[in-house]
Amino acid sequence: MTRAAVLTSTGTPLTIEEIDLAPTGADQVRVRLHATGVCHSDLSIVTGALGHPLPAVPGHEGAGVVTEVGAGVTSVRPGDHVILNWTPSCGACWFCAKGEPYLCDRAGADAVNAPYASLGGTRLTPVLGSAAFAEETLVLERAVVPIPAGVAFEVAALVGCAVTTGFGAAVNTARVQPGDTVVVIGCGGVGLSIVEGAKYAGATTVVAVDVTDDKRALAADLGATHTVDGTAADVERQVRDLTGGRGADHAFEAIGRSATIRTAYRVTRRGGNTVVVGAGRHDDLVSFSALELFFQARSLIGCVYGSADVARDFPKILGLYADGALDLDRLITKRIALDHVNDALAAMAAGEGARTVIVFE
Ligand code: APR
Ligand code: ZN
Ligand code: ZN
Repeated sequence: MTRAAVLTSTGTPLTIEEIDLAPTGADQVRVRLHATGVCHSDLSIVTGALGHPLPAVPGHEGAGVVTEVGAGVTSVRPGDHVILNWTPSCGACWFCAKGEPYLCDRAGADAVNAPYASLGGTRLTPVLGSAAFAEETLVLERAVVPIPAGVAFEVAALVGCAVTTGFGAAVNTARVQPGDTVVVIGCGGVGLSIVEGAKYAGATTVVAVDVTDDKRALAADLGATHTVDGTAADVERQVRDLTGGRGADHAFEAIGRSATIRTAYRVTRRGGNTVVVGAGRHDDLVSFSALELFFQARSLIGCVYGSADVARDFPKILGLYADGALDLDRLITKRIALDHVNDALAAMAAGEGARTVIVFE
């Protein structure tokens, strides 16, 4: 038995339940969570903005210690510290072979269909194959990446989603270059990590746009050179004024809404990159005119999991953190117990704080 936050139907609060984990399969690993970040994608699954088979245990930004491994597991042993990888790529499909494991053909289905847990005899699905809103979870071997034992679990957890997504968006997806101009729209855990990634890559102008004062202040502390209030009527003009009147070389949208994707597109310079990092609703349509797509010559790029190869990028990011090149501690604005996860989701919906981290005793 393990305590977990269960989502039974969308739009209702999570309930803390004692669930039964399945026996550890040959290719599976049991992990005792030490820290789990609350990501907007969890909120979107809880509200129904993103679909997921239910009932389910959300949480996909976690780190902990391996407690048991299946008979065929070779990459980790009990006692190893790990970060959960919510795209457990197969290593064998066309995308994996091409070096794009974040687009793995099989990761999504394999993660959700693997034996996981039940509640009162009803099968539960592990959100994104992670189910990290729980004291213990059962995941595929490919869903864990071992890390050095000295790394703080709270920081490691954030590397599991927000940091890798944001840092990777700047470094892997857009390939920001020294001297580039960047705008980041939406400065939660993901957007702030884009700010940090852009600075690391050498961007000299980083404009952070958010509707809340505290997020803009945090973005400035983490390296944004300018901030713009997202509630202003003239956001686009302000960003253009800060980017040579042309718009930015790279504009990142880290919210997941059509209106802000449009804003990101408009504040991208001709020939620049508009990068969609936020995960929006399937029915939230974005419009582009046939002429502007041609004439503006912008690249409109989707970014999944920071285009990361987590086996390469988790250690890389942790190394930069250890060297002081990335400040990941400041991303954590609150720590809570699992029992208060609904409060954390409500705060996120209200735009309060950057990352809340669930810490387990
Ligand atoms: N303009 C500017 N900023 C906005 C706007 C707006 N119109 N609306 C919301 N924001 C800001 C919020 O104030 C908040 O700071 O966007 C930020 C979103 O941050 P979080 O809710 O913390 O979300 P995060 O976990 O960072 O995820 C962002 O990336 O992975 C995806 O599913 C995730 O779509 C989500 C996005
Ligand atoms: Zn996430
Ligand atoms: Zn694959």
